[in-house]
This record gives sequence, C-alpha cells and structure tokens, in this order.
Amino acid sequence: MKTYKIAAIPADGIGPEVIAAGLQALEALARRDGGFELDVTEFDWGSERYKRTGALMPEDGKEQLKNFDAIFFGAVGAPDVPDHVTLWGLRLPICQGFDQYANVRPTRILPGITSPLAGVGPDDLDWVIVRENSEGEYSGVGGRAHRGQAEEVATEVSIFTRVGVERIMRYAFKLAQSRPRKFLTVVTKSNAQRHGMVMWDEIAAEVAKDFPDVTWDKMLVDAMTVRMVKDPASLDTIVATNLHADILSDLAGALAGSLGVAPTGNIDPERRNPSMFEPIHGSAFDITGKGIANPVATFWTASQMLEHLGEMDAAKRLMRAVDKVCSDGVLTPDVGGTATTKDVTEAVCQAIRGENI
Ligand SMILES: NC(=O)c1ccc[n+]([C@@H]2O[C@H](COP(=O)([O-])OP(=O)(O)OC[C@H]3O[C@@H](n4cnc5c(N)ncnc54)[C@H](O)[C@@H]3O)[C@@H](O)[C@H]2O)c1
Repeated sequence: MKTYKIAAIPADGIGPEVIAAGLQALEALARRDGGFELDVTEFDWGSERYKRTGALMPEDGKEQLKNFDAIFFGAVGAPDVPDHVTLWGLRLPICQGFDQYANVRPTRILPGITSPLAGVGPDDLDWVIVRENSEGEYSGVGGRAHRGQAEEVATEVSIFTRVGVERIMRYAFKLAQSRPRKFLTVVTKSNAQRHGMVMWDEIAAEVAKDFPDVTWDKMLVDAMTVRMVKDPASLDTIVATNLHADILSDLAGALAGSLGVAPTGNIDPERRNPSMFEPIHGSAFDITGKGIANPVATFWTASQMLEHLGEMDAAKRLMRAVDKVCSDGVLTPDVGGTATTKDVTEAVCQAIRGENI
C-alpha cells in the first residue's frame, strides 16, 4: 500500500469549503481503489494568520512543505487585505520557491453544463492551456520611487530568460504531442513587445524542430481571445506567458460554463519539489459561507494531482464520477443548477463508490 503525504492549504473565502469537498472525494477514491492511502496535513496559512501575526505563512513554510508529495491549495484573498499582499505572501512564494514552472490548465465543457457560446458543446472545446509560471510579467522585478509625489514612477519589468522560455516550450510541445490532435498554439505579443516576446517566438520555432509530428501555429494574444470565442474547435494545446495565460484561462473557464469548473496544476516537471494543485478561482467573497461554491474545479485538480502521483486509475475514476454527476444535472447555481456544494460532493462520492465508475 502506497501512502502519499499531502499538504492541504485551504486558506481563504470558499477555499476551505472546496478543499473539504476535494478531500472527501479523495478519501472515497482511496477506499474504492484500495492501493493507496493519503496522509493529509492541514495548514492554517492565509489571510487570518496574516491579520494575527503579520505573515500569511511562517518563515520556514517552504521547509515545512518540502517533504510532501503534493500540495492541495484552496484560494487566497480577503476583502480587508490588499491582493498583492495575499498573492505574494502565499501562493507565489510556493509556486516560485518550488520552481513549479509549468502551470497546466485543462478546459472542456463537461456533460450537462452549458457553454455561454451558442451551439458549442463538449466536442467543440477541449483545450489545455500551459502557462509559464516562474517569470515573465510576474517576475516581481520593478519598483517605485518618489511615492505620492507628482513625479512618482513605478516599473514592472517582464523577465524572459532563454532557460525559462525553452523549458516551458518543451513542456508544451511534449504535452501537445501526447494529445490526439498533436496541435499547439503559441500565444505571443511580439508585434508590440519586440524584445522578450520576439525571443519567445524564436525559441518556440527552435523547439518545434525537435517535435516534427506536432503541428503548431502562432497567435497574437488579442486575436487569440477572438479565436477562443469564435472558433473554439480550432484550438487544442496552448502555451502562453504568465500574464497572457492567466487572463486567457479565466476566459476559457467562463466559456466552459464557470470559473467554478476550472482546475490548475502548478507542476515542477523535474519533480525536485512538490507540485501544487488548486482550482483557478479565487476566494469568491460574494458566495463565501453560503454553501454553494462549485467543488468541480477542486475535484478536477484533485484528479490532476492523482495523475501526477501516478494513480491514473483513481484520477480517471474521479473525472468519470464528475462527468456523471454533471450530466445527471447535480449542478451548483454558477452553472445553472440548485444543488449545494454538499449535494455535489455527496453525489460524486456516491458515484465513486458505485459499480460502473
Ligand atoms: N489562486 C488564488 O488564490 C486566487 C485566484 C484569483 C483571485 N484570487 C483572490 O480572490 C479574491 C476574489 O477575487 P475575484 O472576485 O477576482 O475572483 P473569484 O474567482 O474569487 O470570483 C470571481 C467570480 O466567480 C465566482 N466563482 C469563483 N469560484 C466559484 C466557485 N467555485 N463556484 C461558484 N462561483 C465561483 C465568484 O462567486 C465571483 O462571482 C481576491 O482577493 C483575489 O486576489 C485568488
């Protein structure tokens, strides 16, 4: 029997609600599978801790997480703490500290969920967005001077390194190669940003030579938003910078029905460090505590986590259970239903326990 050590960081807002749901489903899967166990340690890191102690996570937080097999993360953000404090105080130090440079965001329209795009169903939208997760526009380089003065200046510098770009391109081409269509779209903005983004394009073309069986094309990020809406079936695997993919993947989530169904894995492909799995959404102040947060994104990221751990059967079983429950119409309000988080979670756990899943 294998035992995986999982660090759960539910954090803020609806984070604790969806992580509790995810852990319940994972427990049901482990029981059903019988071949593995999860040893879960919960951390109370987040905005409440910040308000109490001045820090979202302890100074040795990274050390504490280092020996876990994976991290299962909820969401961070509170109405009374600035967003840059919460993001840079918890999520980014983990992603960047563990060099989880590939942020993998699958999107498809689940059965039973209606896309806001007329006439677009599950066969028309099945994408994986690969987001560069370690540098680019979120490198944290920049500064402010003459604060509050008329001559105040602020810089936010995008950093693109050959190593950083090449490794994310390789990851994306490899992922595209593993999917039936073997098709990759490289998102860029090299018309306006003529240094970093031109190097991005050049490295994409160089890496492409090592993947002759992968067809690829290039899109400016603005035109990409149009293509995602007008011709979703023309896309499959997508690679983009930290900022571009951050924005495009929220659009992807909305086109698939709701942010509440969109998952993400922050992966260290070299497995030097634990990878981190989370729903894309934030702490959703408007629905916190109402019991209606959609847990599907968290189930999906739990499935990504199981896949990363090598538990392929359990990963697939979880997604079959999610597909079944969605197509049965057990849906939270964000995707047009009346079910609660608890209803969906119980239905998914029951499906996991069922014979045909
Ligand atoms: N990874 C993260 O931790 C992360 C990501 C995004 C935003 N944030 C933070 O979260 C806070 C709120 O940000 P926001 O409002 O821009 O984004 P959000 O994702 O929290 O919410 C956007 C909208 O989507 C809805 N929504 C999100 N998740 C849902 C779910 N599971 N089920 C049903 N509806 C859902 C919300 O109700 C809201 O109307 C901010 O502090 C922000 O910084 C954190």
